[in-house]
Amino acid sequence: MFLPQCLFILKIIGSIEAIAYFRCMKEIVVSGIRSTGNLHLGNYFGAMKNFIRMQDEFNCFFFIADYHSLTTHPSPADFHLNVKSVLVEYLACGLDPEKCTLYIQSDLPEIAELYLLLNMNAYVGELERCTSFKEKIRKQPDNINAGLLTYPTLMAADILIHRAVKVPVGKDQEQHLEMARTFGNRFNRMYETELFPEPYAFNFGTQLVKIPGLDGSGKMGKSEGEGNAIFLADAPELIRKKVMRAVSDSGPAVMNQEKPEVIKNLFSLMEAVSSAETLAFFEEQYNVMKIRYGDMKKQLAEDMIAFTDPFRKRILELSKDEKTVQQVARRGAEKARESASKTIREARNAIGIRQI
Ligand code: TRP
Repeated sequence: MFLPQCLFILKIIGSIEAIAYFRCMKEIVVSGIRSTGNLHLGNYFGAMKNFIRMQDEFNCFFFIADYHSLTTHPSPADFHLNVKSVLVEYLACGLDPEKCTLYIQSDLPEIAELYLLLNMNAYVGELERCTSFKEKIRKQPDNINAGLLTYPTLMAADILIHRAVKVPVGKDQEQHLEMARTFGNRFNRMYETELFPEPYAFNFGTQLVKIPGLDGSGKMGKSEGEGNAIFLADAPELIRKKVMRAVSDSGPAVMNQEKPEVIKNLFSLMEAVSSAETLAFFEEQYNVMKIRYGDMKKQLAEDMIAFTDPFRKRILELSKDEKTVQQVARRGAEKARESASKTIREARNAIGIRQI
């Protein structure tokens, strides 16, 4: 009788150890959102839903990329407000500071230091060839600062500082990630170390939903102009107004007609926020040429309001709760610095920055 019980207890102890072991073996994930405005439905479905799932499975570091936003010279008041509102919105969406490390980039001086160190081995030629830099030159020709040129080095520092291997980002960041691998590998080679692993883009494929904007131009984005994006914090009246103004057309001319782009967009939005029955109803109406876009938009607006309502409420609550937000930022910075300071110590040592 005694032996099986002993074995049973041993088994439990073994699995506890195994759990502890796996916990520290969890892969490291890093991602950042630029603090240039509020979160919209596109951000939510494109990034946030992924982040929320990842915090259960990986060792996640999510941060507000406020240093990055300085390339456009925001006023100090705007800068501060933006950082705070992004943090509030991260929390309102369901990022949990107990599960992941949630912090503000500028709270980690280690990132600025690694950025400096990496810049010594980042060549102007390769930085100038970066597509996002070329685009910036085109868009803001009178403010081509060194911060824009070295944007990829800063992003590499963000990732390498925690020695992350998985980076949840969209396609547009692929080249920046490749540069992060180049800089990490170059450092390893130059200083004969294995400090930095190679980071790769990673997303839960099935969840990556592209959310179109309301102006018929494709992607939902804050830069595309007023009215194109539905923000999580938008009031119901504003959502109704924006949705009713969404671009549509005069309706299908034949049964089962292939949908033109702008109409596809409306249906994609509906797919994201409405029930399957609602979607099926309007699909059917479209196919039999009975669709009335006014009715469809009314329904879409109400479903968007219902979908965003819990977020808006939490955003409002948290915006008033300075203490909680402050605590989250402090605790996040502490946790992030634990990992960052270890990396920077090793990087300095590898380079030969040692105490005399
Ligand atoms: N460049 C990213 C963007 O524009 C934001 C970002 C900055 C980031 N640093 C990062 C993303 C590190 C992932 C990892 O969306």
